[in-house]
Amino acid sequence: MVSKLVNFLARVLTLGSISSVLGTNDAFRSKCRCLYADPSCWPSDAEFNSLTSKLSQPLIYPIPPESACYPASNPSGNCTEVTLNAFDGNWRSNQSGSMQAPNYETFIFPNGSISACFLNATLGVPCQQGNVPPVGVDARTPEDIQAAVAFATKWNLKVVVKSTGHDYLGRSAGRGSFLIWTHNMKTISYNASFVPEGGSSDVTYNGKSFLLALTLGAGVQWHEAYDAAEANGRVVVGGIAPGGSVGAAGGWIQGGGHSILSPHFGLGVDNAIQFTIVTSAGFHLTANAYTHADLFWAWGGTYGVLTSVTYKTHPKEPVIFIAVQTAFSSPAIAQSIVSNFISFHPSLTDLGWGGYAFFSSSSFTFAGLAPNTSWADANATIKPFFDLVANATSGTAIETTIPFDSFYSLYTAVLGAGTGQSDGIGENVELASRLFPRDLVENDSERVAETLLSVNNTVLYQLSLKNSLFLSASPNLVIAGGAVSQVDPDSTGLNPAWRKAAAHIVFGGSWPQGSTVSDIRLVQNTVKGYLSVLEDLVGPGGGAYFNEASLYEQHFEQTFFGDHYSKLQSIKNAYDPTGLFVVVEGVGSEKWDNSVTCLHV
Ligand SMILES: Cc1cc2nc3c(=O)[nH]c(=O)nc-3n(C[C@H](O)[C@H](O)[C@H](O)COP(=O)(O)OP(=O)(O)OC[C@H]3O[C@@H](n4cnc5c(N)ncnc54)[C@H](O)[C@@H]3O)c2cc1C
Ligand SMILES: *[C@@H]1O[C@H](CO)[C@@H](O)[C@H](O)[C@H]1NC(C)=O
Ligand SMILES: *[C@@H]1O[C@H](CO)[C@@H](O)[C@H](O)[C@H]1NC(C)=O
Ligand SMILES: *[C@@H]1O[C@H](CO)[C@@H](O)[C@H](O)[C@H]1NC(C)=O
Ligand SMILES: *[C@@H]1O[C@H](CO)[C@@H](O)[C@H](O)[C@H]1NC(C)=O
Ligand SMILES: *[C@@H]1O[C@H](CO)[C@@H](O)[C@H](O)[C@H]1NC(C)=O
Ligand SMILES: *[C@@H]1O[C@H](CO)[C@@H](O)[C@H](O)[C@H]1NC(C)=O
Ligand SMILES: *[C@@H]1O[C@H](CO)[C@@H](O)[C@H](O)[C@H]1NC(C)=O
Ligand SMILES: *[C@@H]1O[C@H](CO)[C@@H](O)[C@H](O)[C@H]1NC(C)=O
Ligand SMILES: *[C@@H]1O[C@H](CO)[C@@H](O)[C@H](O)[C@H]1NC(C)=O
Ligand SMILES: *[C@@H]1O[C@H](CO)[C@@H](O)[C@H](O)[C@H]1NC(C)=O
Repeated sequence: MVSKLVNFLARVLTLGSISSVLGTNDAFRSKCRCLYADPSCWPSDAEFNSLTSKLSQPLIYPIPPESACYPASNPSGNCTEVTLNAFDGNWRSNQSGSMQAPNYETFIFPNGSISACFLNATLGVPCQQGNVPPVGVDARTPEDIQAAVAFATKWNLKVVVKSTGHDYLGRSAGRGSFLIWTHNMKTISYNASFVPEGGSSDVTYNGKSFLLALTLGAGVQWHEAYDAAEANGRVVVGGIAPGGSVGAAGGWIQGGGHSILSPHFGLGVDNAIQFTIVTSAGFHLTANAYTHADLFWAWGGTYGVLTSVTYKTHPKEPVIFIAVQTAFSSPAIAQSIVSNFISFHPSLTDLGWGGYAFFSSSSFTFAGLAPNTSWADANATIKPFFDLVANATSGTAIETTIPFDSFYSLYTAVLGAGTGQSDGIGENVELASRLFPRDLVENDSERVAETLLSVNNTVLYQLSLKNSLFLSASPNLVIAGGAVSQVDPDSTGLNPAWRKAAAHIVFGGSWPQGSTVSDIRLVQNTVKGYLSVLEDLVGPGGGAYFNEASLYEQHFEQTFFGDHYSKLQSIKNAYDPTGLFVVVEGVGSEKWDNSVTCLHV
């Protein structure tokens, strides 16, 4: 919505008068951040040159990767390469100017004009910079980040930190911003006797007097982390995407980080034992249970630029892959199978099973993992559900269990396979989500199933009148619970709603490139509609996962952080008092406008 996007005009008008009174290079005196090319405040080339002299790499000038295809008659770059790779999450991550969902590369002005660079260069729309930060630092070292932070502070720039650009709320892009790109900080080290700084070597873990830990630089992606864990005969809890493209030490962990292994081993934050971070004052700090413990606790927000994260690792063990896929021949069958799955799956998470379900009124798919169990036992556990599905679908459903010698084998063969086209990478997307408490899914599964299934019927029908802007209105269900629920809710700053949740349920909306603003608004309003459906089920005050969520939360403090919010705010004030790292719907963002560019008066 307009209100959620940068009000560029209003900002320029306000800044013009205020900055002329206060002077321009005095950080934070002005109400608004200085945006690109604003003549009243943007640093000169000479200033940028003096920044460059402090960096290990030249400055970067990100552009939307699709720009290689323009002008259509005589492309400026290798358009074939862009077209071939536009749906590949790892290729997109490699481009400093790319977001995984191209709508976050796009900027909509208050007057409804769109500044974008569409992959299809023959739509007749010129390629523009949109929401892509026009200049930034290709950080390789903490010192690079310290120089970038000092420069941004001095010139009151709007800072955007980006690792992979996977963010579903567009928080790693920003029109006119100064980018700190951590993608190339690829150091990985495994330490079989890791001791957190300030801790003692008699810390025990899994009965052993040392920690087998993997330390990942801020640019490492999960496929690289999984390879490194495997090379050391270990398993690390991480995100799942085609090609393993999600960042392992950026937004994923700061939001909490869910994994198919979470019901077995906990969330990302439950597995992280130390991080290093550059704060807005320019310090490079270590945070863990012993040192800067408040900052370590506060994972659920953005307090500085992470430079590394250290994770516990786990022993390799065999896993059983479970898959179910079926079409529904009637609404009654859909209701029966979905409600049964919804009430049944918490018993799976009690055994550490994780997985994802995708369903609509026409079909159901479940892909899951059973850890640390025999094939026969996994078969026996899933049998009641397999029988129910087989019976209801007259034996037409696909039902499979397949043993793998490790999570890594399953990840390589199935979970991380492919490059993304089927997963929405390279497509416009907005989400709405809620964490569903266990009580609700166990005691009220019929109503939950009925309501979730009805969304597809009603809302999609209305949209089909507008040429089916939606790719999918079916909810995704990510299994929570198990080990996630066994952690003391106050042991980290993470949203306590995670600890009571049995599932994280997400709807998505999409639209084709080149859509008119009114069509985009229609989709956005529909996603808002999904949000109210989810809210009605979970009730007011329900929680959601910060990383896969709506841009239209009315009470983001409660929704994303619950009763940890006030403590998180005070930690934010201590480590980032000027709000240099504030992001949309993040801790401290209530002080800022919807584009996190101007402070509220
Ligand atoms: C295809 C796909 C699959 C996904 N799968 C999962 C999944 O399995 N589990 C899950 O929990 N989530 C998943 N997500 C959501 C994911 O957690 C978020 O998109 C998350 O924001 C990604 O973090 P990133 O660093 O890779 O992305 P970015 O977009 O680069 O960054 C996301 C946010 O983190 C900030 N950030 C990045 N790096 C740093 C840093 N070094 N220091 C400070 N701030 C930083 C950015 O400013 C931004 O606010 C998935 C997303 C996609 C698109
Ligand atoms: C353009 O990219 C394609 C696909 O990656 C590659 O095969 C080709 O060699 C590239 N062309 C040039 C001129 O670099
Ligand atoms: C991303 O960049 C790395 C390093 O240059 C390269 O090895 C990798 O192949 C690239 N990935 C894709 C999908 O282009
Ligand atoms: C909308 O506003 C932008 C930014 O000020 C301007 O460049 C553009 O020309 C305007 N478009 C219309 C149709 O008025
Ligand atoms: C690009 O847009 C043109 C004009 O709308 C359309 O004819 C063409 O099919 C589109 N190409 C792709 C690959 O979608
Ligand atoms: C592993 O960690 C220990 C304790 O923190 C440290 O002394 C040692 O140098 C580290 N080893 C490697 C290879 O990094
Ligand atoms: C695996 O299961 C055994 C019992 O079968 C249990 O003792 C052990 O703790 C489990 N391991 C993990 C990592 O959960
Ligand atoms: C588990 O079930 C599958 C069918 O889904 C079957 O092929 C396999 O033999 C069973 N394994 C064991 C050990 O019972
Ligand atoms: C099997 O399905 C039929 C209807 O198709 C139903 O009457 C019966 O109760 C089901 N049996 C089981 C065990 O679910
Ligand atoms: C759900 O059912 C359980 C067991 O019957 C009960 O203890 C619990 O209070 C119920 N919760 C709700 C919200 O109704
Ligand atoms: C429900 O969604 C599925 C998949 O998105 C779609 O194929 C189906 O047509 C939808 N059903 C209705 C009744 O709209």
